[in-house]
Amino acid sequence: MDLNRRCFLKYAASGMIAAGALPAIGCSGLRRKDLTGLLEQENYVHGLTKTELDILYMASLAPSGHNAQPWTVKIVSPEKWIIGSDKTCWLPAADSDNFNCLLSIGAFIENLVIAAGSNGYKADVQITAKDPFDTEIAIIHFSRQRRNGELVKRIKNRRMTKIPYRKKEILAKDIEYLTHHSPEHICYFPKGSPQSTYIEEGTLECNRIQDARQDVLEETAKWIRWSDEDAKKYRDGLTPEAMSIHGVTGWVARHFFTRESLFNKMNREMYLDMVEELLENHGGWIVFTGKDSSVSSMIDSGRRFERLWLKARAKNIAIQPFSQLLEEAPGATVGIKGIEDDVHFIMRVGYIDSYPDPVSLRKPVSWFVEA
Ligand SMILES: Cc1cc2nc3c(=O)[nH]c(=O)nc-3n(C[C@H](O)[C@H](O)[C@H](O)COP(=O)(O)O)c2cc1C
Repeated sequence: MDLNRRCFLKYAASGMIAAGALPAIGCSGLRRKDLTGLLEQENYVHGLTKTELDILYMASLAPSGHNAQPWTVKIVSPEKWIIGSDKTCWLPAADSDNFNCLLSIGAFIENLVIAAGSNGYKADVQITAKDPFDTEIAIIHFSRQRRNGELVKRIKNRRMTKIPYRKKEILAKDIEYLTHHSPEHICYFPKGSPQSTYIEEGTLECNRIQDARQDVLEETAKWIRWSDEDAKKYRDGLTPEAMSIHGVTGWVARHFFTRESLFNKMNREMYLDMVEELLENHGGWIVFTGKDSSVSSMIDSGRRFERLWLKARAKNIAIQPFSQLLEEAPGATVGIKGIEDDVHFIMRVGYIDSYPDPVSLRKPVSWFVEA
């Protein structure tokens, strides 16, 4: 039985779904494409050209933990931008060392460099932060170059999805395609390998640990946008659509769930059931490593995984990061056989039959740019 159906039956049994409500069910929740027109108006920032706005919007399509979008940009001049870290988007309970924040900003920088290249600009990145909690992270210097537009088209189509993955091992030629930009920092472990089993067991255990942590649950609740109204108001966080909660279950979630719903015992059990199912069904794990965990190493890893993620859709390979092992037991990753460097990021991967369109929302450029 699929998760959505099992979830629906639990709700039906608990009497939350009134029979009279059923005919109204069917439409989906707020998705990125529903806000395209609005975003075009809101993306305007006085003093910036259309090209600059486009580069900033493309950068903002980067993934981030809880879709918190922890980046800021200060436009010092057309040739010099400062990338910053927004304290209000940090996740101190789950991401206590702020590494996920740095990884997300790394992904943002990678998109920015690619989008600038496609518009005829070379973007040189100078990392200035020394501490993960610094609020100024990098300076970008722009100069002219020939247009280079290969990867940019993929930025708009990249997404995280949890729809069922096939258990098939990822083909060697596909791994080569995904990792050839940085093979020394990226490892693939197929489902069934000792490393894969180790990551699955550790990830499940760490999900259980986080599930029992009130501070983590409260932090997560803060970033879930159950209703369409909240999603439209904040344009960040996790919507039911982005969490792959569709159909009847999505409708129930959008109309009945509140901040407190996350603390409900039945929902907690359902969440852990879902995690177990995700850990059982996939084609393996991709692990990103670095020689240390300095700010610049974490930013580099964010850039590397974003580049890989942009390539994955062309091969029908779905991606879901799983951060809990690194958040709760970073030392445990030394147990992943064959890895000597620091582990920075772990992704569940698998082939899917058809790729859904991106749905997660983004803040308008004017909300994170200071010109
Ligand atoms: C540093 C980082 C950590 C993440 N950790 C998780 C995670 O533990 N579980 C998960 O389901 N998704 C995780 N994600 C995926 C984000 O939730 C997702 O990228 C975000 O909601 C935006 O959606 P999109 O990637 O479809 O644009 C992570 C993403 C990043 C960049």
